[in-house]
Amino acid sequence: SFYTASATAPVNIATLKYWGKRDKSLNLPTNSSISVTLSQDDLRTLTSVATSDEYKEDILWLNGKPESLTSERTKACLADLRKLRAEMEGTDPSLPQLSKWKLHIVSENNFPTAAGLASSAAGFAALVVAIAKLFKLPQDMSEISKIARKGSGSACRSLFGGYVAWEMGDLENGEDSKAVEVAPVSHWPTMKAAILVVSDDKKDTPSTSGMQTTVATSDLFEHRIKNVVPARFEEMKKSIHDKNFEVFGKLTMQDSNSFHAVCLDSYPPIFYLTDTSKKIIKLVHQLNDAEGKIIAAYTFDAGPNAVIYYEQQNESKVLGLIHKHFSLIPGWDKVDTSKLETVDI
Ligand code: DP6
Repeated sequence: SFYTASATAPVNIATLKYWGKRDKSLNLPTNSSISVTLSQDDLRTLTSVATSDEYKEDILWLNGKPESLTSERTKACLADLRKLRAEMEGTDPSLPQLSKWKLHIVSENNFPTAAGLASSAAGFAALVVAIAKLFKLPQDMSEISKIARKGSGSACRSLFGGYVAWEMGDLENGEDSKAVEVAPVSHWPTMKAAILVVSDDKKDTPSTSGMQTTVATSDLFEHRIKNVVPARFEEMKKSIHDKNFEVFGKLTMQDSNSFHAVCLDSYPPIFYLTDTSKKIIKLVHQLNDAEGKIIAAYTFDAGPNAVIYYEQQNESKVLGLIHKHFSLIPGWDKVDTSKLETVDI
């Protein structure tokens, strides 16, 4: 016998950053976070899975290349999914025993993995959702998000479209550390994002090890998780519910800056922003100052590439300014302007 299923999961970009783990193997965070999931049409992973009683081993093909399934994170996800399936099979013996069969997994990104655009989040989200479908698991997306979280923390947020919160939880076993929907994409239809690919090399400190350095060494990080993020988490959710771009945009920029400040306060320091990234930051502030209100907001993850959020009605102002300044920004001559992509969310 032979069964198949497939799923897609888009990239999500955090507006309130996850940075720091209280448990490394379960990917339990030191703070709650918020993100916006991009549309399925833009940056996403498509994963197809097949299972058969004739397969001899689990195999994963990632963007056409066979990969061995040795990663502890992938193994943890598969083990959890098989456990839930085995429980179903235990209560209904007429079900085929898929929990015991091997899996063949084919996963493809429609964007270059090297671009540093949160490919692990979309990848683990698509993997977990595809297998949950194959196994016909009855659990809701928040339940399934706890499994994706073990693959990569930020992956749990890619199980929902639109505006998503990852509630950090406080249980040691992580059973309350899950993603929940803040608002569907239809709630704020004018929201847009532009991705500015400043560099697509992958030489930055990986987020997993960067976080460990920060947690172990940064005093500013203590301040961030205790005194800054808890209030910001509530304020940002409210700004989304209210569709208040001024508040949402300001909090988004402040949180990106706070995250990069704790990176700099780590020892040894971690640098993700380049001079080009900093020029983009200045440009966005100049635009907002000239407008007398916040119409554009930048955010940067563990790399130099910018994501700029804005509302549709301001698109020509925001993108026009960026295009106009291309030649003025050192480093822009190295930027492939065709990579200035606007994406739907
Ligand atoms: C800066 O989710 O990639 O993008 O849990 O170790 O896989 P692991 O880390 P990961 O970290 C993402 C960090 C971030 C902020 C965010 O997405 O919230």
